[in-house]
Amino acid sequence: MALRKIIEYPEPLLRVKAKKVDTFDEELKILVEDMAETMWEAPGVGLAAPQVAQSVRVIVVDVTEPGEEKHYMALINPEIVEHEGTQLDEEGCLSVPELTAQVQRYKKVTVDYQSEDGTSKQLIAEDRIAVVLQHEIDHLDGILFIDHLSPLKRNLYKKKRKKMLALEQTG
Ligand code: NI
Repeated sequence: MALRKIIEYPEPLLRVKAKKVDTFDEELKILVEDMAETMWEAPGVGLAAPQVAQSVRVIVVDVTEPGEEKHYMALINPEIVEHEGTQLDEEGCLSVPELTAQVQRYKKVTVDYQSEDGTSKQLIAEDRIAVVLQHEIDHLDGILFIDHLSPLKRNLYKKKRKKMLALEQTG
């Protein structure tokens, strides 16, 4: 396993629609393991392949319930096929530094996906895990959580981020 570099907004690769996975090989398994390690290390509760500059439809999600030992799920080609209700929860993103904001999401989602060996599966999730799934699946379509904010909030962040990057350059 190896840590991968997480790319950050406004890196254009975050905006690309990721390709469907059709080869379930060793390379995919290594990508999944690296993504899980990178997520734990960050630390984060979910990670999408485009965030480590791999434009493929792969996500990993922390599905640990309170009191359980840490574990994650890898979902290949995930797709929300049903949803119910709405919820408002605080979100952040490893690719969007120094911002958290309230985002409205579905309360409950049904997700069709494939496991790492290509087997078709279905998952029903609600509350926090449903939020993480929706956030990570958005990444596969080039959508960031700031896209769900009001134009005012989004523009404020864009300006803040520009300043952060300018400061990083002048060192
Ligand atoms: Ni994210």
